[in-house]
Amino acid sequence: MRIVAYYIFLPNILKLIFKYKTMKNILIIGAGGQIGSELTRNLRDVYGDNHVVCSDLRPLKGQDYERGPIERIDSTQVMQIATAVKKYNIDTIYNLAAILSATAELNPMLGWNVGIGSLVNCLEVARLFNCAVFTPSSIGAFGPSTPHDNTPQDTIQRPNTIYGVTKVTGELLSDYYFTRFGVDTRSVRFPGLISHLTLPGGGTTDYAVEIYYAAVKGEKFVCPLKKGTFMDMMYMPDAQKAMIDIMEADPSKLVHRNSFNVTAMSFDPEIIYNAIKKHYPNFEMVYEPEPIKQAIADSWPNKMDDSCARNEWGWKPQYDLDRMTEDMILNLKKKLL
Ligand code: NAD
Ligand code: SER
Repeated sequence: MRIVAYYIFLPNILKLIFKYKTMKNILIIGAGGQIGSELTRNLRDVYGDNHVVCSDLRPLKGQDYERGPIERIDSTQVMQIATAVKKYNIDTIYNLAAILSATAELNPMLGWNVGIGSLVNCLEVARLFNCAVFTPSSIGAFGPSTPHDNTPQDTIQRPNTIYGVTKVTGELLSDYYFTRFGVDTRSVRFPGLISHLTLPGGGTTDYAVEIYYAAVKGEKFVCPLKKGTFMDMMYMPDAQKAMIDIMEADPSKLVHRNSFNVTAMSFDPEIIYNAIKKHYPNFEMVYEPEPIKQAIADSWPNKMDDSCARNEWGWKPQYDLDRMTEDMILNLKKKLL
């Protein structure tokens, strides 16, 4: 009788366990920004509207946010994160709250307090409530003494910006929480991200977004960086896929965790300008380098080697410069004209 009951109930028990394991309840912190505004929609498409809670310090308005739960969370306040994690039975946190490189250089303490405050709070809550945590690192985690070409996964990290200091600290702390407490922390070092939905929040790579807005609006572009300033870049759809794929990756295949080099293209202002000129032959650009942004850009890699991400969890970007340029222009025309 016991054996019969076992075989009748086993499939249902397995179904329940399987459902629990694949059904994520996700909290996005800093969902109002350039990355989070698109991550909210994409995670909801994958995991369901009610399984993705979006949160930010600023009010979140619009269709993608209103599809599911919204919370106002200041991530420097640990209790606010813990309360939301408990309320929604969260098992995965995407921690996106930070002050980007150029803005942080103008207010270093704000950069530290938001970047590190948010991270430490997320890690502590994750430790107590058994959550996985994704916190993006950046090309900003490298500095002037890092090899600038084919920057290896494991190399010198001595950044000279407060943004970079928070990113290296974040990588180390995330690895520490994994090895010391078993918190499932994973992340990538994003390059400059280019997108058309939400404007970037004050970084050094923002010019590569702003140049498209100028071209589509028929304006002359004033470039804040010098000709010959090469940096890694990526189109937002690839960045979104990277964030979902790394959190779904088979942990037994991960040699690294925090953080993987990922890149899709490397260009300087002249190269992106010429790619846009194929669509707008009369487009004009002048150079007026801004000292803070130029110094930051000069300290970052020209091009990273992302072979560890490719080998360990199958990273492969879909967009190169020409394909991204076509898509950016198409979408900005719809948005702006
Ligand atoms: P963003 O500036 O566009 O968005 C950050 C969001 O965090 C904003 O909506 C802001 O309101 C929110 N925020 C700020 N302080 C907060 C607080 N105390 N509590 C809660 N929310 C707060 O930034 P982003 O471009 O979306 O970047 C997200 C993450 O990705 C950051 O860690 C950033 O360093 C990293 N990153 C971004 C890029 C890029 O090119 N966008 C590249 C590399 C790494
Ligand atoms: N886009 C980011 C910045 O320039 C790179 O981390 O700050």
